[in-house]
Amino acid sequence: MRLVPLLAGALALSSWASAFTNPPIYEDLADVDLRRYNDTYYLSTSTMHFSPGAPILRSFDLVNWEYIGHSVPQLVQFGTGYTLPPGQNAYNQGVWASWLIFVPAQNKWFWGGCTNFFQTHIFSSAGPDPTSAWTQISVINACYYDSGAFMDDDGTVYVSFKDLGTNTFQISKMAADMTTPVQTQVVITLPSNNTSLEGTRPYKINGTYYIFTSSPNTGGEYVYKSSNIFSTSWEVNVFLGPDVAPQPPLVCCLGQGALVETQNGVWYWMSFSWSYPNGRIPVLLPITWSSDGWPIPTLSNGALAASYPDTLTPHPVTNNLTGVDTFAGTSLGVQWEWNHDPDTTNFTVNNGLTLRTASLTNDWFAARNTLTHRILGPISTVTIKMTISSMKDGDRTGLGLFRDVSAYIGVWRSGNTFTVNMVNNITINTSEVTTNTGNTAASAAVAGTTVWFRVISNSTPAVNMGTFWYSTDGKTFKQLGPGFSTDTNFQYFEGQRFAIFNFAASSLGGSVQVANFELTTGSYTGVAFGA
Ligand SMILES: *[C@@H]1O[C@H](CO)[C@@H](O)[C@H](O)[C@H]1NC(C)=O
Ligand SMILES: *[C@@H]1O[C@H](CO)[C@@H](O)[C@H](O)[C@H]1NC(C)=O
Ligand SMILES: *[C@@H]1O[C@H](CO)[C@@H](O)[C@H](O)[C@H]1NC(C)=O
Ligand SMILES: *[C@@H]1O[C@H](CO)[C@@H](O)[C@H](O)[C@H]1NC(C)=O
Ligand SMILES: *[C@@H]1O[C@H](CO)[C@@H](O)[C@H](O)[C@H]1NC(C)=O
Ligand SMILES: *[C@@H]1O[C@H](CO)[C@@H](O)[C@H](O)[C@H]1NC(C)=O
Ligand SMILES: *[C@@H]1O[C@H](CO)[C@@H](O)[C@H](O)[C@H]1NC(C)=O
Ligand SMILES: *[C@@H]1O[C@H](CO)[C@@H](O)[C@H](O)[C@H]1NC(C)=O
Repeated sequence: MRLVPLLAGALALSSWASAFTNPPIYEDLADVDLRRYNDTYYLSTSTMHFSPGAPILRSFDLVNWEYIGHSVPQLVQFGTGYTLPPGQNAYNQGVWASWLIFVPAQNKWFWGGCTNFFQTHIFSSAGPDPTSAWTQISVINACYYDSGAFMDDDGTVYVSFKDLGTNTFQISKMAADMTTPVQTQVVITLPSNNTSLEGTRPYKINGTYYIFTSSPNTGGEYVYKSSNIFSTSWEVNVFLGPDVAPQPPLVCCLGQGALVETQNGVWYWMSFSWSYPNGRIPVLLPITWSSDGWPIPTLSNGALAASYPDTLTPHPVTNNLTGVDTFAGTSLGVQWEWNHDPDTTNFTVNNGLTLRTASLTNDWFAARNTLTHRILGPISTVTIKMTISSMKDGDRTGLGLFRDVSAYIGVWRSGNTFTVNMVNNITINTSEVTTNTGNTAASAAVAGTTVWFRVISNSTPAVNMGTFWYSTDGKTFKQLGPGFSTDTNFQYFEGQRFAIFNFAASSLGGSVQVANFELTTGSYTGVAFGA
């Protein structure tokens, strides 16, 4: 988010004193990997069971970010649960902490990460454009858990990771084509009372090798350094104490992060704040270096400052996070991700989104083709316009807040009766078994063929609530049901998402059309776009 002091408007452009506020982007973007190539910054993050996975975001100032694509176009190669076949799912699996790197000698981008604790998958782009088609190029039969990558001066790429079986950090030297490791060695054996360190990010800076790592159990971020990449004796220092926190409304502590040097020679560390239900929210921290080569965080009274001066000229992006998506054209915008791999035969984008029912179920967690969008913190509102005249008996469709504790507002068709329901307490446990398909907290009869749904998500810590609204004219919205208290626990890992769904409790064949999706910051209660 950008903050420009009001006074600055009156001054000459050259004397603008601008600053950015943390978080730069208030969305669930965990385990960031961050790169600069030329004057452009790229971000890659974890997405677990959402498809496509590993989004790529782009920025020209480290503050304004836009989604440009994904490194993992589908999840099915990770295992059978990823398409949500009856009785199976892959919640919490899939894309974990991983890395994104451009390799000039190959003129391609590469992504790598461990899934399901036993395999490491490597993908590459077709060419130098990170939005060119991505495909899997290799599977390594070992889990490079929480891996990171860097390129040495000779162009060789090294991957660092934690080996969970031995609690060691290891380094793999990759083949030039990035498909296989050509040498792998243990470099750090974690102390037996402190084996939780993970999230390695390796760098070479001024001839010295660094591995940044974090401890999710004890908190804190550490830095190892050595003059030899395969050394078994690394010096270690605390980079951030476990008590370093961001400012409210971010909730808690900092997780693993990545380092970048700007084209002006200023260094930043981007990490995330554990801030459920919103998710793991990226924060940006300027750093300096001690004379003996240790990074020093720029803190304010021992904490992450709410705001830091811009060191790069603010540069707005084209694809704003907020605004109206009319599902123009014939494909979805890159900000969208499905819950598990979608059944591509059962949705169409054609200047509007058509969702045909793809699953026969009464369980939202088991239904295919739920389309999700990260909530924008701390408060945001989504309004959608939907045509419901092609629903079949037993169909359930609507707009919800999707997480391990979910709720929605939607229309159920029963015979020729259409009711709008607010359903809450839809829960899945940590074994990824649905424990409640939901309780209908309120309902109302609805007539006509067009319905607007609205969800206001407030993840301000003292509130943590969603409210659910509907309208039959797009102008007057009625709240249905009580406020929904969102889940602030971490164990589902992914943050809350807005989610559009359509599934069949009786028989397949029905469909709905979604005309638009309007995302505004704050709590919006006015007329819908296109009403
Ligand atoms: C950076 O710029 C150079 C020169 O224009 C270009 O050859 C190279 O592909 C660019 N790198 C990336 C990753 O875009
Ligand atoms: C772990 O062991 C080291 C070395 O014995 C010790 O200095 C440190 O305090 C221990 N940490 C904890 C949490 O016990
Ligand atoms: C964990 O290890 C790091 C790096 O060796 C050390 O600085 C830190 O004090 C350790 N923490 C605990 C709780 O032992
Ligand atoms: C790298 O070395 C240069 C030249 O000595 C120095 O100016 C710069 O501060 C060093 N950078 C880091 C991150 O240590
Ligand atoms: C993006 O947001 C900025 C600032 O609010 C606005 O000036 C611009 O018109 C928006 N762009 C689009 C494409 O909506
Ligand atoms: C839609 O989903 C159903 C249920 O999985 C499937 O039988 C059907 O082949 C899919 N495609 C179409 C075009 O209906
Ligand atoms: C999740 O629910 C299933 C079905 O009730 C149960 O068998 C399983 O033990 C539960 N898991 C946890 C972690 O509670
Ligand atoms: C949610 O449903 C469970 C039963 O599955 C029930 O025990 C619990 O009281 C419900 N909670 C709320 C907030 O309705």
